[in-house]
Amino acid sequence: MKFPFIDLQAQRSVISERVEAALKRVMEHGQYILGPEVTQFEEQLAEFEGGGHVVSCANGTDALILPMMAWGIGTGDVVFCPSWTYAATAEAIALMGATPCFVDVDPETYNICPKSLRAAIGESSNPKAIIAVDIFGQPADYPSIRKIADEFELKLIADSAQGLGCRLNGNAPLKWADVVTSSFFPAKPLGCYGDGGAVLTRDEELKDKLLSLRFHGRGERAGDHALIGLNSRLDTLQAAILLEKLNIFEEEIEARNRIAERYTQALKSNILRTPKVIEGGLSTWAQYAIEVPNRDVVMAGMRAAEIPVAAYYPLPTHMQTAYKDFPVSPDGLPNTMAAKDAIMALPMHAYLKPEDQDAVIETLLGLV
Ligand SMILES: Cc1ncc(COP(=O)(O)O)c(C=O)c1O
Repeated sequence: MKFPFIDLQAQRSVISERVEAALKRVMEHGQYILGPEVTQFEEQLAEFEGGGHVVSCANGTDALILPMMAWGIGTGDVVFCPSWTYAATAEAIALMGATPCFVDVDPETYNICPKSLRAAIGESSNPKAIIAVDIFGQPADYPSIRKIADEFELKLIADSAQGLGCRLNGNAPLKWADVVTSSFFPAKPLGCYGDGGAVLTRDEELKDKLLSLRFHGRGERAGDHALIGLNSRLDTLQAAILLEKLNIFEEEIEARNRIAERYTQALKSNILRTPKVIEGGLSTWAQYAIEVPNRDVVMAGMRAAEIPVAAYYPLPTHMQTAYKDFPVSPDGLPNTMAAKDAIMALPMHAYLKPEDQDAVIETLLGLV
């Protein structure tokens, strides 16, 4: 390939000195587990997201599991989520012993469809929670989803593994969701150099429970474990890296938005469908995903020209072996199925050079 799909080394060259100094500081103080950088990162991320509490953890999947553990979600409970997401969303539900029920997505934003969600809840005997996913980096339709959650007395989780930093009418998803979860997997918009995750909440009591659950359910009395929990702490070394990355995150989101706008202006046509962001939404562009006819032929053409592209997702979750027997919305998943065959993601990261953007645009326009 002429250049990578996501270029982590380009970002590293900007922050390497600061990251290396931060890592050296950790190695000097030696508090590798829950050192001061972890709390510092939690506080700074909470500020970045406009308030609330941040409980960091080991990865974005645990970030989904921890609040469900805290709420006692388990066998017999139904949790609604899109099929059009990474498998971890449904995996977290199934690991709790609960049933994931797959809901369709909006055909334009690919985020959970409120109509399909309402239909699925209406059919369900024991609905407990909704997981909305900020797919490809853009916020879900939180005002509509919150209304449905309130009507049926359900918890609302915003799975913002791809969308941390996204906004709807200037607000972070935590304005509507009971918890927001995220992943710091290296390729995510805010990624570390390994695995990491976080749960955000405005609920003080829940925050305390999450702090216990992520540390084997530690109780208040020395030596006592009050809850059955997990070992799910964010490493101090990763927190130190994340602090440096958080410093440049806002600029990176702006850069991603400039590149997305350039792609859109150059590519919008009757043939290609460029991404549509919800009105009032700001995306972090974890993926810039277009719809293209004869997708597989075009993808092969792009790869032959050494331009990296990806089909997100080749298989929606409800079609995957481990998840094929779970229920789906009574209206089916027609928009999910259409997306499966049409979507192609283009190279996207904050440091994508103008000449590489040109190569993407020119090659693609030559193929359609
Ligand atoms: C939507 C979504 N949810 C959850 C996850 C899981 O995150 P992690 O890989 O950090 O466990 C991911 C990332 O892969 C994701 O894209």
